[in-house]
Amino acid sequence: MGRLAGKKAFISGGAQGLGAAMAKRFAAEGAAVTIADINLDGARQTAADINAGGSAKAFALPLDVTQEDQWIAALEEAAKIMGGLSVLVNNAGIGVAGDIETMRFEDWKRVMSINVDSVFLGCKHALKHLRQSQPASIINISSIAGLIAAHNMPAYNASKAAVWLLSKNVALYCAKHKLDIRSNSIHPTFIDTPILDKYRDMFGKEEAEAKLARQVPLGRIGEPNDVANAALYLASDESRFVTGAEIKVDGGISAM
Ligand SMILES: NC(=O)c1ccc[n+]([C@@H]2O[C@H](COP(=O)([O-])OP(=O)(O)OC[C@H]3O[C@@H](n4cnc5c(N)ncnc54)[C@H](O)[C@@H]3O)[C@@H](O)[C@H]2O)c1
Repeated sequence: MGRLAGKKAFISGGAQGLGAAMAKRFAAEGAAVTIADINLDGARQTAADINAGGSAKAFALPLDVTQEDQWIAALEEAAKIMGGLSVLVNNAGIGVAGDIETMRFEDWKRVMSINVDSVFLGCKHALKHLRQSQPASIINISSIAGLIAAHNMPAYNASKAAVWLLSKNVALYCAKHKLDIRSNSIHPTFIDTPILDKYRDMFGKEEAEAKLARQVPLGRIGEPNDVANAALYLASDESRFVTGAEIKVDGGISAM
């Protein structure tokens, strides 16, 4: 019996990075997991890694999180194959660098679509399934950049701030409707995933990571399991009285 025994989780963007780490952590604690990603091969690989441990409780589905019809179909299919849905993790997201004057409008819209439309669509269409598996939990992966601004990522800042407040909106909606469905956001700082590759390409791996680490009071960038462990708490019934909250996994940045 693990901390997530009997839970059925749907994780967007689980082909790599934080989504894959959460899928593995959740499965290790007894959950069934559906990994949905635009990169279906990657999602299948994450599922295969999990199932190689012995039990076939991980599944992979194709999903472009910007497409409403795909969300409806993927959630339907996930609920069918897992026998319900009790945890939704809206994790898929991208970052595009550029400042307010140089960023192209197309890039702004792409970031808002992948980072924000996705969370709206995921929450909107998952509720019908989650209400059948209460207590249930929605976990939205925002960023410390949704709480603290920088000078060079207007779309990312704005998109992650939107995820932060949308999570609270959904929490209050569920409470108002007497649903035992929690909604919370997680706000990581720099975590060692492929999302940092562009930065590593610019400065070289060691220098890039050292530059990022210097901004973190704990003096290092985070590991995917630092986020997966926070998500595990929110997915489990241990967090049954926690909703509308934000958990910062930021090595102390926001304390400054
Ligand atoms: N790693 C960090 O430093 C960090 C820090 C704060 C927040 N985050 C957030 O965590 C989340 C995961 O980031 P990561 O570091 O694992 O990034 P990553 O680039 O390693 O993984 C992102 C995943 O999302 C998928 N994806 C991208 N567009 C998609 C789409 N349209 N539909 C479906 N899937 C799509 C990708 O295929 C990939 O598997 C993101 O929302 C990111 O903004 C990451």
